[in-house]
Amino acid sequence: MSRALSVGPPKESPIGTTLERHLLDRQRSMPDATGDFTGLFQQITLAAKIIGSRVSKAGLSGILGRTGTTNVQGEQVQKLDEFANQTIVSTVEAGGHVCVMGSEEVEEPIAIPPQYPQGKYVLQFDPLDGSGNIDINASIGTIFSIHRRVTPEGQPGTLKDLLQPGSDIVAAGYIVYGSSNMLVYSTGSQVDGFTYDPGVGEFFLSHPNIRIPERGNIYSINEGNYHNWDERIQKWVDWIKTPTPEKKAYRLRYIGAMVADLHRTLLRGGIFVYPPDIKNKKGKLRLLYEASPMAFVVEAAGGVASDGKSRILTIQPKELHQRTPVFMGSPADVADALRFANA
Ligand code: AHG
Ligand code: MN
Ligand code: MN
Repeated sequence: MSRALSVGPPKESPIGTTLERHLLDRQRSMPDATGDFTGLFQQITLAAKIIGSRVSKAGLSGILGRTGTTNVQGEQVQKLDEFANQTIVSTVEAGGHVCVMGSEEVEEPIAIPPQYPQGKYVLQFDPLDGSGNIDINASIGTIFSIHRRVTPEGQPGTLKDLLQPGSDIVAAGYIVYGSSNMLVYSTGSQVDGFTYDPGVGEFFLSHPNIRIPERGNIYSINEGNYHNWDERIQKWVDWIKTPTPEKKAYRLRYIGAMVADLHRTLLRGGIFVYPPDIKNKKGKLRLLYEASPMAFVVEAAGGVASDGKSRILTIQPKELHQRTPVFMGSPADVADALRFANA
C-alpha cells in the first residue's frame, strides 16, 4: 500500500534549532557564501565547548589530580585564561579560514603557521573575560569578533588586518559560562542566543532575535572607583540612584565580568559603564576584543554603544591592545548618561 508524500510546509523540528543548523540555513540564504564563515564559526563553537567544560571543572583541579582522572600538574600550572587562549588558537589555526588572530593574552598578532592555508578572515578574542571570577564560581565569558582581511589573499595576515573599526565586523559575539552556558552572536541584522545542552553537547537556539529594552532600571559600574572619576560621572551616578519625580532609583548590579554584565543588560535593559578614571585615563576595557564586539552585538539588538563622545564602532584602532571608555545599553539610559558625561 502506498502512502501520499507530505507536500505541506516543513514542520517545526522536534529537536529545536541547533547552532549548526542555524549557521547552515544562514549560509544557504547567501548565494555567494563559500562555507568559510560557517567553518570558522564551528571551530569557535568547538573551542567554546572545550573551554566551558574546563571552566566547569575549575574548582576540581586538585581533587581530580588526587582521583587520577586528570593530570594535576597540567591543571595546576596552567591558568584558565592561558588554557582558553591556547584552545581557541589550536581549534582555529589549522582550519584555513583565518590569516591572523589577535588575543588579549598575546602581545603581538598571532600568525597562522606556514604549513596551513592563510584564510580570508581575521579573528580577535578575549579568551576569558572576568577571570577574577573563576575562583568564586561566578560567571565568566569569551568574547570574539570576525573581520574580513584587508591585506592580499593567500599571504600571512598582518597588524593591518587586526586594526579595523568595529563597523567592519562581519560577526561578533560572546559565550557566557554561567548557571548554563550560552553563545550569543550577531552578523549585524539581529542577535540570536543559544543555550548549551551538556547532555547532547550542542548549543540550541533559545533566544531568537534578542531586542534590548528601550529603557531599563539597572545601572552597572564599578562604584568603588567613584572617587577616581570625573565629577560629571559622579553626578550621573548620584542622579541615577536617587529617586526623582520622574523616576525611581535604579538598582545597581555589577558582576565584574563585562560579558555577564552586558548579557544581563541585553536581556533586562539598563546600562553598563566603564568610564575613564585617574588610574585608567582611557578607561580599562580593550577596544578590539572587548568593546568593539560587544558594541556590535548591543547595536544589533537595538542598543547604543559609545565611548562617551562617539560610537565605539566608528573608532579607528591604532594599537592592538588599545583601551576605550564604554557606555553601553538601552538607548534611553545611555542618552541620559551621555548628557551628564558631556555637560
Ligand atoms: P579580563 O578578565 O578579560 O581581564 O577582563 C576583566 C574586565 C571586564 O570583564 C570587567 O568588566 C572589568 O574588567 C572589571 O574591572 P574592575 O574590576 O576594575 O571593575
Ligand atoms: Mn576581558
Ligand atoms: Mn580576559
